[in-house]
Amino acid sequence: MEIKGAVALVTGGAQGLGFAIASHLSGLGATVVVADRNAEALAGLPEHLDPKQVDVTRPEEVKAAVAEIIARHGRLDILINNAGVIFSEPFVNIMNPDAMMHDYGRYRDSLIANLDSVFIVTSAVVEQMVRRRIKGAIVSISSISAQGNEGQTAYSAAKAGVNAMTVTWSKELGRWGIRCNAVAPGFVDTPSTRGALNESVLKHVQSSTPLRRLGKAREVAQAVAALIENDFMNGVVLNVNGGLTI
Ligand SMILES: NC(=O)c1ccc[n+]([C@@H]2O[C@H](COP(=O)([O-])OP(=O)(O)OC[C@H]3O[C@@H](n4cnc5c(N)ncnc54)[C@H](O)[C@@H]3O)[C@@H](O)[C@H]2O)c1
Repeated sequence: MEIKGAVALVTGGAQGLGFAIASHLSGLGATVVVADRNAEALAGLPEHLDPKQVDVTRPEEVKAAVAEIIARHGRLDILINNAGVIFSEPFVNIMNPDAMMHDYGRYRDSLIANLDSVFIVTSAVVEQMVRRRIKGAIVSISSISAQGNEGQTAYSAAKAGVNAMTVTWSKELGRWGIRCNAVAPGFVDTPSTRGALNESVLKHVQSSTPLRRLGKAREVAQAVAALIENDFMNGVVLNVNGGLTI
């Protein structure tokens, strides 16, 4: 698919990886709508990105936002499911004997933020693509944690679910010319990574990575663009992790 001239929706694009992806697609000539719940971050976006305040865990809000985007731009060709919340909690914490096990409420919250959100937005967008006979491209941002990461029961399960939905949708939606792929980043140098990992864990990650460094947000954006542009890639989960295995 030609990115130039296409209309793209990037969820969670007001900062971090999503902002890098939105900027990259815009630089390649797409009209880019950034959907995020963070009004303050949206207000600070450069003018060439079209901001849309929406919480991607709320189906009705998302449906209305997708309808508004199509009314404003005439079409929607590309969806990047990037919004998510990195979350870590051990399954068993013996240091906290009164509440030793992973909290179920926080498990559910993480699944809603990282998995349900992808279902909700993709459902709203694909409905419009099928009704309008738009041959679209969907790329979801998964994670290396989908392989099962220590201390991340809920987040790992959610991202593994994203991979499974990507492959399922690639099989169901191909008949309408809609392709579904995912990018699974390793550890990328973003404020969220630096906030989630302390200095010693960061050092350990870098020394365990064959390329001996964190990834760059731009490198994830380049992988997203490659999956959009290549019309025979479908059902792919593309690792962008410097060769790290967990
Ligand atoms: N940073 C990394 O190293 C890394 C690695 C692997 C995967 N990922 C994945 O990449 C994606 C982006 O991560 P990031 O590090 O840039 O995170 P981030 O926290 O910097 O940015 C996430 C953005 O999503 C938005 N968002 C979160 N929940 C939302 C909701 N319900 N509705 C609307 N907007 C919402 C936030 O407001 C924020 O702008 C996530 O899916 C994350 O799981 C990140």
